[in-house]
Amino acid sequence: MPNPDRADLPTAAPTPVCPARPGRRRHRAAVLALLAALPAPLVALGPAGPAEAQRRIVGGVAAGTSDHPWVVALSSRPQFGNGRSGQFCGAALVTPTKVVTAAHCFYDESKGRRVDRPELKAVIGRDDLRGSAGYEVPVQSVWIHPDYAFAANMNDVAVLTLAEPQTGRPVIDLVGQGETEPYVPGTRAQVFGWGDTTGTGNYSPTLRGVDVPIIADQTCAHAYPGGQDGRFDARGMVCAGEEKGGRDACQGDSGGPLVVGGRLAGLVSWGTGCAEAAHPGVYTRIGAVSDAVHSVL
Ligand code: ARG
Repeated sequence: MPNPDRADLPTAAPTPVCPARPGRRRHRAAVLALLAALPAPLVALGPAGPAEAQRRIVGGVAAGTSDHPWVVALSSRPQFGNGRSGQFCGAALVTPTKVVTAAHCFYDESKGRRVDRPELKAVIGRDDLRGSAGYEVPVQSVWIHPDYAFAANMNDVAVLTLAEPQTGRPVIDLVGQGETEPYVPGTRAQVFGWGDTTGTGNYSPTLRGVDVPIIADQTCAHAYPGGQDGRFDARGMVCAGEEKGGRDACQGDSGGPLVVGGRLAGLVSWGTGCAEAAHPGVYTRIGAVSDAVHSVL
């Protein structure tokens, strides 16, 4: 889908995100997720509901890689164009040479097949993708969780090995295997990304972050019972967001970090629409894949 805000994108540049899965509803009038490319309200946002969110901007604020140095953008310039540094997914630096992201970032969402991401790079230390700050580090190899299931969205995690070690750069620790405390409903969590700010293809050129409380597994299982909205499975997933909607990750944020208590607790994975009431964001549950990830770090 063309990005109406970005006249400088090559016209052929594909959408730098996962499009909606076949059969999965998308609401173009979805409540705003991460902020649009307007001056960021740095103040705390009031208790505005979804209606307010559609009219104005609720949920996101500007974030910086100086405060969150482990937030990484994944780039394929030949595929996604130079306008936003080729960004198509988010990720997190977990060791000087390893980056954790979502497996589905390496899949064609309409066909469910592995796809090549030519000139795959991790963009590190660049808040504004229109600029050239920081580094573009080539990726040497991509590991996909051996039990990743595209159709079921299970075990949606990948580990990338960087060609050049980022020695001295702060990394983020992962939540450990089987930990439950980070996933207690209501726990404060934050998600970061350069994804769609409106659910209509307004990809942010700058890094945004939003608070999204952890949602109970049972609530999420009701929101996603299977069928066209997808099935939530707490064995590999966790939900976050406001039950009334208004704050969420969105297309293009995939693979990006969900942070609880300074540790990586989730990865942006899927959801129906963006920031809709009763359709929270679904994240890869790091506590369920931590051992598998550690085995390749
Ligand atoms: N699959 C999307 C992507 O690749 C992420 C969707 C997240 N959606 C949400 N409502 N939290 O960018």
